[in-house]
Amino acid sequence: MALTAAKPFQAPTVKSLSVRLVVDSYFDQFMPKQTHPLCHIEHVSRIRGREQEATLAGEWGLSLHLESENTVGKGRFLLDFGYTPEILLRNFDLLGIEADKLDGLILSHAHRDHYGGLVGFVRHHRDAMKGDLKLYAGGDLIFREKWLGSREGEPTSWGALDEAALAAAHVETVCCDHAHALDGPFTTGMIERSSFEHVLPNTLVEPTPADHFSEAERRGKLVPDRHPDEHATCYVVEGRGLVVVSSCSHSGFINAIKTAMAVSGVSKLHAVLGGFHLGVAPPDYLDHAMAELKALDPDVVVPMHCTGRAFTAKIAAEMPDRLVLANTGSRFTFGV
Ligand SMILES: [Fe+2]
Repeated sequence: MALTAAKPFQAPTVKSLSVRLVVDSYFDQFMPKQTHPLCHIEHVSRIRGREQEATLAGEWGLSLHLESENTVGKGRFLLDFGYTPEILLRNFDLLGIEADKLDGLILSHAHRDHYGGLVGFVRHHRDAMKGDLKLYAGGDLIFREKWLGSREGEPTSWGALDEAALAAAHVETVCCDHAHALDGPFTTGMIERSSFEHVLPNTLVEPTPADHFSEAERRGKLVPDRHPDEHATCYVVEGRGLVVVSSCSHSGFINAIKTAMAVSGVSKLHAVLGGFHLGVAPPDYLDHAMAELKALDPDVVVPMHCTGRAFTAKIAAEMPDRLVLANTGSRFTFGV
């Protein structure tokens, strides 16, 4: 894994950005049309000319195709890769996205619902893709095994991202534990824990020195994953402000937004999209999250994936003019 050079960070800007939802939990053929004054919304119902083959498919997991434009040209990235290659490849193909045009791959964090389709996707499309293809990851712990806890018995392995398979496919992994500028987006680096949010219960990992366990405690003990290798993918859209894609928000979506603001120096939040990871949060935590989100005053909020129905309903009730609903296949364009 290559380390990024420590250098002064300058966030790039773009004129426009389109975010296409390639994989999410469901596909609704009858998604109602919606408009928003600051976001062009396109939902997909059927794939014209291919109706006799298949429809888009939903699956637990997330994958987003990002396409931005600036004065130099377009930048295209695939952010996260769903749970399985079958669904990612199917939707990617049906949506007509071109693998040879991808400028890079970004992984938000190393949970199977985000990396699961990666190796199969790369194996399928590698010959057509750019020779120097890179995977931008949030830290050097992305290859460690994740474990699922159980009240009934021993934790079970959730597996690990296959580092050898990526190397064999000539995909270089770049460690972006600090803010990193790409051709269009920037990644935040490690997300600062500056709000009330904390990592809600999820996976377990083998402890590392950073987990601050004593040698005796560490021996044979799995500890809660604190997600030091999670980062957010962001854009600065000219005349609009910051667009933050939080993906799964284990470190907190408010924390992700505030980190993006801090590293970019842009205080206007235009849009936040992604899983806000509030499906398992208690009501008072949702109240707190809503108060913080309102204070940040985004123009557009697009909940996906692990946000949870309760918080999506709360946005609908308390910020109805900001809410944009997503469906697998949907494309959201900013800056036009
Ligand atoms: Fe997730």
